[in-house]
Amino acid sequence: MFDIQPLSKICHLPETRMMEIARTVMEVWTTSIVALPRVKTLDFVEVVAMMAVLDRTGLNTLRLLELGTQHGISAAILARCLGRLGIRPAIVTYDIQSLRHFFEPGEAEFRCEDITDTCGGVLDELDPHVVFLDAHPWHLTLNMTVEARRRNKLIFAHDVSDDLWNERLQGGRLSLEGNETNALIPWERKVLEAVFGPEIHGGHHVTDDYEIDLVRSTYGVALCQPLKGPLAGERKT
Ligand SMILES: C[S@@+](CC[C@H](N)C(=O)[O-])C[C@H]1O[C@@H](n2cnc3c(N)ncnc32)[C@H](O)[C@@H]1O
Repeated sequence: MFDIQPLSKICHLPETRMMEIARTVMEVWTTSIVALPRVKTLDFVEVVAMMAVLDRTGLNTLRLLELGTQHGISAAILARCLGRLGIRPAIVTYDIQSLRHFFEPGEAEFRCEDITDTCGGVLDELDPHVVFLDAHPWHLTLNMTVEARRRNKLIFAHDVSDDLWNERLQGGRLSLEGNETNALIPWERKVLEAVFGPEIHGGHHVTDDYEIDLVRSTYGVALCQPLKGPLAGERKT
């Protein structure tokens, strides 16, 4: 299905625990996620990787801030998988449009607001353990990444696959100017490059305060794990 060994190394969890997490995610998937509408959202491997990093924190309650709710499918997936792993989720999710949401009441709190210029204040208010970036606009993604890094948060960024990191973005042929607020362009990987350096494209990159791994799944998810602060945690692999 997927190669557990490299994922186990990235997430710093023993392979046996990774397998347990994968089994739990699969159970949730087959019992409740398949019933949700089929839209582009997190894939199975991406969820296993994210759950593994969150499992390693050892937290009983996990505060998660999501940018880009859309139909709330990712919020529902994250809430249900965390719950099944025995971690109580407290998810706040932002979007600038209010669509029909598919998470249950209590699984997430939706806020309809553009927080591009207030990322630091929102982080201070909510004090999330992890920020999940899935909204695209350049300034929003950049401001949130910079502020989250300043506070040693876990940062997960969706849509960073090699396919989405297309040649227009790579060569700088797609100009940032005029596209900053374009929610259809996945700027996440470009933002990670701007914040953590071009070495992120190699797939594994370590700075003095973070390690950044690109999980090469369907859409790709970047796992940015702080090496400082309370979430740095113990590394078992
Ligand atoms: C890729 S979709 C999110 C998918 C969702 N996370 C999932 O997997 O189910 C991107 C969403 O970001 C939202 N978005 C665009 N600009 C935004 C902004 N400034 N703040 C918050 N959300 C924004 C869009 O309206 C869209 O619903």
